Amino acid sequence: MAPGGDREVITVSDANALAKAAADRILARIAANGDRVSICLTGGSSPKQLYRLLATDAYRGRIPWDRVHWFIGDERFVPANDPLNNMGMARRTFLDLCAPAANIHPIPTDSADPSEAALRYERELQSFYGAEVLNPGRPLFDVVLMGVGPDGHTASLFPGYPAIEETERWVIGVPKAHVEPFVPRVTLTLAALGSCREMLFEVAGPDKRAILTRVLAGENLPANRAHSIGETVWLVDKAALPESFRGQ
Ligand code: 6PG
Repeated sequence: MAPGGDREVITVSDANALAKAAADRILARIAANGDRVSICLTGGSSPKQLYRLLATDAYRGRIPWDRVHWFIGDERFVPANDPLNNMGMARRTFLDLCAPAANIHPIPTDSADPSEAALRYERELQSFYGAEVLNPGRPLFDVVLMGVGPDGHTASLFPGYPAIEETERWVIGVPKAHVEPFVPRVTLTLAALGSCREMLFEVAGPDKRAILTRVLAGENLPANRAHSIGETVWLVDKAALPESFRGQ
């Protein structure tokens, strides 16, 4: 498959509309699965508005919190209470206000190193899934949220790093980051992230226009190699959209 070839790009007016569109898609995926639901969150600044929205009365009351489990696609290897910790941000913004503690699945950062943390999280995911091999007919996640960095990375899968080529492991340690913050990372691999019913990228603001231009041109970047075995959707606001795509 050509990089990024199977995705749908949905354009919305601004960051508010983007958060609402993402929240509505998550609700639809939860409604479509009457059983245990698993959602893989992302870090960075892009999803903050969505997380705040999920904690508002309008959304909070429509989520069956008892049967929804929350994972994280990548983590900065810093203590859980460090402001840089991705799951810490999600917890403060909505999870600790709404979700049962047993349904929150952080990547452990109290391990000896990122590789050990990756092994522990891989085991946790496999135990949740009930198998050590992913079955394309039974996705690991209902929704996987993603963002894109200035170098085209997604999760902590950086361009030119070996982690992007990993096909067996579900989670892997990344000793050095390619962009700020320069702390070691732990990341789910393309195989684990792609095992989902829907992969949902959120891209907003003029700072994202340069990298989005490269992504939409089909460049071989980690964000273009990440796709779902189900639907892959890029939610993009007008400010992030390259000139050449406006009015299309
Ligand atoms: C991280 C992220 C990373 C992020 C992108 C976009 O740990 O930094 O998970 O992959 O999604 O870098 O980040 P922004 O939303 O802050 O631009």
